[in-house]
Amino acid sequence: MSSRLIYLDHAATTPIHPDVVAAMQPYLTTQYGNPSSVHSLGRAALAALDDARRAVADALGATPRDIIFTGGGSESDNLAVRGAAFAGRERGKGAHLITTAIEHHAVLHTVEQLGRHFGFTTTILPVDEYGRVTPAQVEAALRPDTVLVSVMLANNEIGTLQPVADIARLVRRHGALMHTDAVQGGGILDINVDRLGVDLLTLAAHKFHGPKGVGILYVRQGTPLLPEITGGSQERNRRAGTENITAIVGAATALTWAQANRAAHAAHMTRLRDRLIAGILAAVPDTALTGHPTQRLPGLASFAIAGLSGAEELLLGLDLAGICASSGSACTSASLEPSYVLRACGLPSALAVGSLRLSLGYENTDADVDHVLATLPPLVERLRELARLMQG
Ligand SMILES: Cc1ncc(COP(=O)(O)O)c(C=O)c1O
Repeated sequence: MSSRLIYLDHAATTPIHPDVVAAMQPYLTTQYGNPSSVHSLGRAALAALDDARRAVADALGATPRDIIFTGGGSESDNLAVRGAAFAGRERGKGAHLITTAIEHHAVLHTVEQLGRHFGFTTTILPVDEYGRVTPAQVEAALRPDTVLVSVMLANNEIGTLQPVADIARLVRRHGALMHTDAVQGGGILDINVDRLGVDLLTLAAHKFHGPKGVGILYVRQGTPLLPEITGGSQERNRRAGTENITAIVGAATALTWAQANRAAHAAHMTRLRDRLIAGILAAVPDTALTGHPTQRLPGLASFAIAGLSGAEELLLGLDLAGICASSGSACTSASLEPSYVLRACGLPSALAVGSLRLSLGYENTDADVDHVLATLPPLVERLRELARLMQG
């Protein structure tokens, strides 16, 4: 067992930054007011909420009134898709939704549920071998009754970037709404809402060194949206419930810090990612890079390794060597079902079951990459031998 912990699972979640903890601290202790209260503690909480909203709006190139704080990325996705779908139908726009086969389940399952149980018609666009959809595909799928198109900015399993700005231009010209799940892009990609040209954009603070359980939904002014959580008039009547000031302050602090360091972090992570990719492809035979070779997240290296009976043994072996990694697949211990993302990219099951995702953060180093490159090849060799023995 290694004493050093090398965290390479930033696509799952990131360590909270110490400055973020410090910014949150008062709101966990002395500053416990409810922003709806009129007394001084309440007013202090409201001021913190306003400041956080302004900081998030600045990071997105938006105005504060366009920002809704939610309980996480999944909730923001649900509110965007459901809220826009129901509001659009109510206004007589129609009931057709478009998304892609490799969206996070927070979008995909929501669209599927709207189709199955709520009378919407849905188009789930296929992707190419790299996980990309084209603007032409979206254009061909648009109909007069299309209410919403949801295409993610970057995929969480294979890192592939989608041409969201080009797609958004088409969608909005057509008169439909454009949502992007930018959860994997927060603090690392350009998430300016005007450059992207989107109506709705989702972020989750825990992916950019903020706390878990707080999400952001950008809603362009004038976008019809039916609230999902009804009750009080918080968040301009779009998301009821006493605001989680502590988490919201943490989210805003983290986003401001991450966006300020975005270029330097992206360059550092891209360099380490490319070292990982080149090193692993050279040292582990019969291994393929998954996702797009260049249009991919700066910190995400993902592979399909042939000859393994599953990813669990690989992840446990890496864990014993002090490396936290992920399969990036929906494998369960009970089945060897490969991930829906890899299947949508057309990867054969035998390859897809051996998936590995290494997702870097700004705090990773060359020594971390060296350790992976020293550990992985002999580990894969041992596991392949084991798989051969079990089969034979
Ligand atoms: C692309 C994407 N969308 C949505 C989510 C959901 O975010 P949360 O876990 O904060 O609900 C995730 C988290 O894994 C994600 O990677």
